[in-house]
Order: sequence, then C-alpha cells, then structure tokens
Amino acid sequence: MKRLEYQIKYGDCLNILREYPNNFFDLIITSPPYADSRKNTYGGISPNKYVEWFLPRSEELLRVLKPTGTFILNIKERVASGERHTYVIELILEMRKQGWLWTEEFIWHKRNCYPGKWPNRFRDAWERCLQFNKSKKFHMYQENVKVPMGEWAKTRLKALGKNDVIRFNSQVGSGFGKNIANWIGRELAYPTNVLHLATETSNKNHSATFPRALPDWFIKLFTKEGDWILDPFAGSGTTGEVAHQLGRNSVGIEIQMDYIKLAEEKFKEAEMLLLEQKEKYGKSNKRKHNKIHRA
Ligand SMILES: C[S@@+](CC[C@H](N)C(=O)[O-])C[C@H]1O[C@@H](n2cnc3c(N)ncnc32)[C@H](O)[C@@H]1O
Repeated sequence: MKRLEYQIKYGDCLNILREYPNNFFDLIITSPPYADSRKNTYGGISPNKYVEWFLPRSEELLRVLKPTGTFILNIKERVASGERHTYVIELILEMRKQGWLWTEEFIWHKRNCYPGKWPNRFRDAWERCLQFNKSKKFHMYQENVKVPMGEWAKTRLKALGKNDVIRFNSQVGSGFGKNIANWIGRELAYPTNVLHLATETSNKNHSATFPRALPDWFIKLFTKEGDWILDPFAGSGTTGEVAHQLGRNSVGIEIQMDYIKLAEEKFKEAEMLLLEQKEKYGKSNKRKHNKIHRA
C-alpha cells in the first residue's frame, strides 16, 4: 500500500505551483480571498483588479490539472456602490479565453445563515461553486454522492403522467433526460446542484473557512482513492484534512505562516483521532500515516 502524501506549502501559489509538473492534479478545490472582503485579515484585492490578479494563477492551475480533472472555485461577488460587482462574471469570461470550459455551477446554500437586512437587500445565504474543466470528458463518480429519496417521492410517484413512464429528453439539447417511473422502489437518488450545508466557524482561528462537508462532497464526486487534490488558497487546511481522511493525496498552499501552523495542528489532531478510533474499535486501517511535508 502506497503512503498517502499530505503536503502543506508556504508561499504565493503562483510561485509554488511552478514546482509541480503539467497534468498532475485530479481535483483543484479552493476558496480564494474574495475581493476586498478580508482587508483586516489577509489583505483584500480591489474588485477592479481581481481578474488581473487571478488570471496568472488560474493559468498555472490549468497547467497542473489533468485533462480528466476538475477545478471547483468557491467565490462570491460583493456589492460595490449599491450594485453587484461584475468581477466574477468577468473572471468566468476571461478564464474561458484562457482555455477553461465553464461546465457547471453549484450553489452552496448556507443552511444556518442568520437573518439580517440592508435598506435595499437581504442577507446573502449562498455562494457560487463554479466548475471548470479542461475537457468535456472529466472523471465523475455520481454514485458516491447519492442522497435519500426524500418526501417528494411519496406523492410524486403515486401520480405518474404519460411523460413520466418514458425517458423524457430535454428539448434544448442539453443531454439531460428523466424517467420518473425509474425511481419507484429506490432508496437513493442523485442530488441536485444545490448543496444545503451549514457553515462551520467554531475553533478554527480562521475567519473564512468552508465547512468540511463542502470539499468532502466534491472530492467524493470527482476523485477516487489515491488521487491528488490541490487547494492553492488553503487557509486552515480544510481541503487537505478531508482529502486525507478520504484516502487522497493532497497539496495545500498558503501565504500566511499562522494559517500553515493552524493547518498542521488540525492535521495532527485529525490523525490522533483516527489512531484513537482504530485502537478503540480495532478497525483495520490499511492506510499508512504520513508526516507533514512543509516547504
Ligand atoms: C478564503 S481563505 C481559504 C479558507 C479555507 N478554505 C479554509 O477552509 O480554511 C483564502 C486563503 O488564501 C490565502 N491566500 C491569499 N493569497 C494567497 C496566495 N497568493 N497564495 C496562497 N494563499 C493565499 C489567505 O491567506 C487565506 O488564508
């Protein structure tokens, strides 16, 4: 059994990525600093400069991703001068020119977002998770993220119409098809592209972490054991921690030493927990545990 790698690297991802060969990673999942949003913690980039700042980094990401790999970019535009800023939209258009395919968009609905309002708008309770690929033939393991059928099935499957008992293909040529009758008697269904996940803020000492459930879901959907996962804006190392628990190799890059230390602590704690569980329940754990590689 091959050793699992957990690498955490200190520096600007633009420079560190140059250490990695072409077509190396199976999945890149990351949440970069949002424009201007965290000035007090790690320096915001002005919304007007965001695309210019991001493009050299996304060019490196394009190089290091395998042709069968996927890039998930968790990002959110801010409101500037009373309007939604357009930098995320501009970024998508520029990344397409760079060679990326914008294949899908997932919505992360923050289930536990508390209410609030501004004079002319309500509180944001969702963020974008943009999916980019290098080719249309990317790896996807849809069976890994199936969900319980849910209440809809009880009423919907009792009243089937004529389009429900045949495969009904999308009329806009999207390739989407459905046959509702297929779901009778099943316990699991495929999810939608809306992820209802609670935010996690406790005990992390980083102000902008994403919940473990977010990388967990995408790692299961787009990779298999032993694959390589990259988070170029690693923060407190959530992606690497989850990747390791799922038996994937990971590289995290972070520009602030305090967060590197935090990620290392979290990783060690998670490893201790795994070992304790192994001792307590005597479960066989085929994986060898690894030391942290810090550059
Ligand atoms: C939104 S946070 C990521 C949080 C992470 N998903 C987690 O769960 O902890 C973005 C991180 O990117 C780091 N960062 C900003 N610019 C960077 C760069 N050029 N290279 C590497 N990391 C960078 C920031 O220090 C910050 O920790």
